[in-house]
Amino acid sequence: MEEIRRVGVLGAGTMGNGIAHVFARNGFEVVLCEVEQRSLDRGLETIRKNLDREVAKGKLAGSEAAAALKRIEGTLDRTALGDCQFAIEAATEKFEVKRELFKELDRTLPAEAVLASNTSSISITRLAAQTQRPGQVVGMHFFNPVPVMKLVEVIRGLATTQASFDTVKGLAEKLGKTPVEVNDAAGFVSNRVLMPLLNEAMFAVMEGVATAEAVDEVFKLGMAHPMGPLTLADFIGLDVCLDIMRVLEEGIGDPKYRPCPLLIRMVDAGWLGRKSGRGFYQYGS
Ligand code: 3HC
Repeated sequence: MEEIRRVGVLGAGTMGNGIAHVFARNGFEVVLCEVEQRSLDRGLETIRKNLDREVAKGKLAGSEAAAALKRIEGTLDRTALGDCQFAIEAATEKFEVKRELFKELDRTLPAEAVLASNTSSISITRLAAQTQRPGQVVGMHFFNPVPVMKLVEVIRGLATTQASFDTVKGLAEKLGKTPVEVNDAAGFVSNRVLMPLLNEAMFAVMEGVATAEAVDEVFKLGMAHPMGPLTLADFIGLDVCLDIMRVLEEGIGDPKYRPCPLLIRMVDAGWLGRKSGRGFYQYGS
């Protein structure tokens, strides 16, 4: 296959802008696609700030940061993906949305291109089946904040070919990440284990076992977690946590994966965590 130089990233949200950042930082040309100008502008602004942060820490020269930013073409026009040799979807965690995007990517990208999804829990096999190239669909799951976290879960769907798997594994290595191979099951490894922990922490708060602050202290000081589970849930986004719990509940079918009612109520209230200014904690002014 032709060498990958130009990559498409669909979605400029928390994960999408981080993914565009690390590809551009590592010399790839990036086409960053969004559906709304406002979201695209916000994503590009976040990338600029995060690159500046690396410059301020002395990890990156100012000229390299400017060059990385220049390698990112932000657009609302998905036909701009036509000459990408690889694309990764980082859209909202809803199967219906991803299904339409995969059908479109399949029509738009060259026949030999590999398509990846940054889904945190949806079946790669099911997404692959929406395309005419199921062997070339792979899961490439990054972690937030993407420029910092070293792990990429590389997920093999039922039909994924070894060549496509190796392509994604190689890309993760080129980004300075450590790929870990995982098979296609709800939540993969990371979220199958992490989300029930966060969900259980929410039950502890709901049932009055302890305050959010106390639960977080337990995990920070007792288990050396960099963030307590409720701070982490706010950081990930409570809507994302709920979507993932629902995928686990439906996909694995065990009632232990039922989402905490407090989580459901908070998402209903629009308390989505850090991004909305309120979750288990308050943010901003
Ligand atoms: N972009 C670039 N660099 C960033 C950054 C960003 N968005 N955020 C933080 N950094 C850098 C800082 O510049 C700093 O660099 P340095 O070590 O060279 O000084 C370093 O990361 C640490 O940051 P800070 O000193 O500002 O703050 P902390 O020490 O509190 O670390 C944290 C922040 C890295 C976010 C840390 O709290 C942490 O690791 N938290 C847990 C994160 C986690 O668990 N993520 C996984 C979530 S699950 C997921 O994403 C999967 C999905 O499917 C749900």
